[in-house]
Formats: sequence, C-alpha cells, structure tokens
Amino acid sequence: MKLIAKTLQGLEPVLAQELQQLGARDVQILKRAVQFAGDLRLLYRSNLELRSAIRILWPIAAFRARHEDDLYRRIQRTDWSEYLNQRQTLAVDAITYSETFRHSKYVALKTKDAIVDQFRERTGRRPSVNVANPDLRINVHIRQNEVTVSIDSSGESLHKRGYRKETLEAPINEVLAAGILLRSGWRGERPLIDPMCGSGTFLVEAAAIASRAPAQWHRQQFAFQKWNNFDPQLWQELREAARAQQIDPPHAILGFDKSFQSIRVTQRNLEAAGLANHVEVKRRPFEKLVPPAEGGVLVANPPYDERLEVDDIEKLYRMIGDRLKQAFTGYEAWIISSNKAAIKSIGLKASARVPMFNGALECRLLHYELYEGSRKGEGK
Ligand SMILES: C[S@@+](CC[C@H](N)C(=O)[O-])C[C@H]1O[C@@H](n2cnc3c(N)ncnc32)[C@H](O)[C@@H]1O
Repeated sequence: MKLIAKTLQGLEPVLAQELQQLGARDVQILKRAVQFAGDLRLLYRSNLELRSAIRILWPIAAFRARHEDDLYRRIQRTDWSEYLNQRQTLAVDAITYSETFRHSKYVALKTKDAIVDQFRERTGRRPSVNVANPDLRINVHIRQNEVTVSIDSSGESLHKRGYRKETLEAPINEVLAAGILLRSGWRGERPLIDPMCGSGTFLVEAAAIASRAPAQWHRQQFAFQKWNNFDPQLWQELREAARAQQIDPPHAILGFDKSFQSIRVTQRNLEAAGLANHVEVKRRPFEKLVPPAEGGVLVANPPYDERLEVDDIEKLYRMIGDRLKQAFTGYEAWIISSNKAAIKSIGLKASARVPMFNGALECRLLHYELYEGSRKGEGK
C-alpha cells in the first residue's frame, strides 16, 4: 500500500531516514510529509515507532475536482462499504490550499454528506458523525484542484505521546524535540545535556531514543485498531518485538533549569513516560553549569522573548555563547530559536542553520561545534 507520513516543516529528511530504517520502500519527500510504500505491518510499526511523524495516512483516492458538487460526485465513486458500515461512526478532517476550495469545513461537510448519502441510498440507514472518537477518520487534502482522500490510521496526533502530565509556558512540540535530536545524529552514544529543560521534552525524547523505547509506548488507542481489517495478533507481536529491543542508555542524559518548577514538572513527565531512571535533573542556572568532562551533545530551546518574555534577551544569548566557549569544549551544541537578533549575540559561528517551525514561529536550528580553539564569528 502507498502511505503518507505527515510531519513538521524542516523534519522531512529526518522522517525519511526513520522510514528507511523501518524498511519502507519508495521513500519520497513531499512538503511536510513523506510518501512511502509498505504493508499493514509497516503501517502499525510507523504509528508505534516513528518519532518525527505527526500522523500516518493511507490514501485511497486521488482526483481533480472543479467545484464542490464535483467533489461530492467523485467522493461517491469510492465504495465506502469497504471501510465502514452504516452502524459505525465517521469523522472527516479537511485541509485546503486552494482558490476554489477556500473553506475546509465546507469541504469536510460535503465529503461527509457524499459518504453518508451513499449508505442511505443503498441501505436506508447512514453512519453517524463522531468527531471525538469515530470508527473511521477520513482526511481530505486539497491543493488547488488536486484532491487526495485518505484514511487516517493514527487518530490523535502522534505528538501526543501520553507523558505530558503538566505543561509550563512555551513547551516544544514532542515531534519537533525528537526530530531535532535525530537531526543531530545523537542516538545515545555520548552524554546529552539540556541546560534549559523547561518541562523536559528533549529529555523524555532523548531517554526514549537512547533506551530504544518506541515513541508511542504509552498510547492505548490508534485509529487503525477500529478498522475492519485490524490484526490484533500482528499488533501484539510488533509491540512485544519493540519491547524486547529496549536497553539501558549507556551514557548520562542530564537536564537543568534555573527554575524549581521546571525541575518538578520535568521529573513528573519523565515518571509518566517510565523513563525517570534514565535521566538526572537538577536546578541550576546555565551560568553555573559544569558538564561532564568527556564531551557530548547539548540541546537547548532557550526563551525567544515571544511566548516567554525575557528582560534582556541579548544578554541571555551572550551568556549562552560565553558558557559554550568556556565550559563546553568537546561538545556539539544544537540550539533552536526564532529570535534572529538574539542568535547573533551567541557570538559563535554556526556550522549549520536549519530552518524549522516551532508552532507558527519560524526558527533556526543552529549547530555549533565546540572544539578546542572554536573561532569567534558573526553567528548571524
Ligand atoms: C522555552 S523554555 C524551554 C521549554 C522546553 N524545551 C520544554 O519543552 O518545556 C526555556 C527555559 O529556559 C529556562 N531558563 C531561562 N534562563 C535560564 C538560565 N539562565 N539558566 C537555566 N535555565 C534558564 C526557563 O526557566 C525555561 O524553563
């Protein structure tokens, strides 16, 4: 089957690599998505194990539509009894990038009408709508006049891992945090530090990567479990195989923050994820942080002065740069921020600057290699 994994902008190559490692065929990068080919086994594994995917779709029809009535007719060409019966429930999500189809809610409504009318005409009964927990979730994607109709195999977005028990201001999305860690190349083979851990998202995702815990270990429900062709035995087998792979991370994973509350929330989230044994967290301002001597990887999501306001943002970023130079020789640092002016104050030359979005905020993921004698540059 042809499948599509959706992701956040900037993470497409990371997701493509994850898919290749799972054994996907014909992997092709699209905009905020990766297309691939695989079977039901790969579909289940994708939902369970991919760290940088938001949802996995199974496209079942693609066509051009000129207007809403045309869309209605084309939707009716699919035999929906293959996927649903009249006693079941459905929900339709629509996303449109189109001059013709401007209102995604109307597209969703029209699609739903076409499907339920097909059942009514054939059986006299129709499936009903259940937005929160449907038996079948359908996704309609329209770019100009090109329509793709897919069955959503995930249900709730895959960034909801089930461990976020408490949030603080400006947490980073779980998929983005995992994607940054994977983009850095880190897989647990060196120490990892988040000096500004907030609610601990990087730390939970890092502990899951290093211990080879599947991204969705704690999630109970996926949309595919309600499909007519759901294979519970295969699903159980894949979960057990994933569990059997888990190891204790070979190196330290360390989190710090200047706020006590952050440390408390991080600890709670790590416990909810079942990964608290693998991570050490302490309250400490970055100004006073001394890392383990052998080198490693630092990841940080400092305040941007957007959602989290800061008195003197440039001073904070200057401190980060100074600290990296003075105490983190032998480390690689990956810092994500949307604040271009503040980034300059880090005062180190970035060896990579990857465009990414954190929610609506356009960011740069900056890579600094802090080898002996790092050159001071503009750090634009
Ligand atoms: C944007 S939040 C990090 C969010 C985190 N990635 C998460 O997912 O929840 C920035 C964090 O930096 C911390 N922070 C700000 N200045 C700091 C400093 N000088 N030393 C250590 N932590 C600091 C704040 O307390 C806040 O928790």
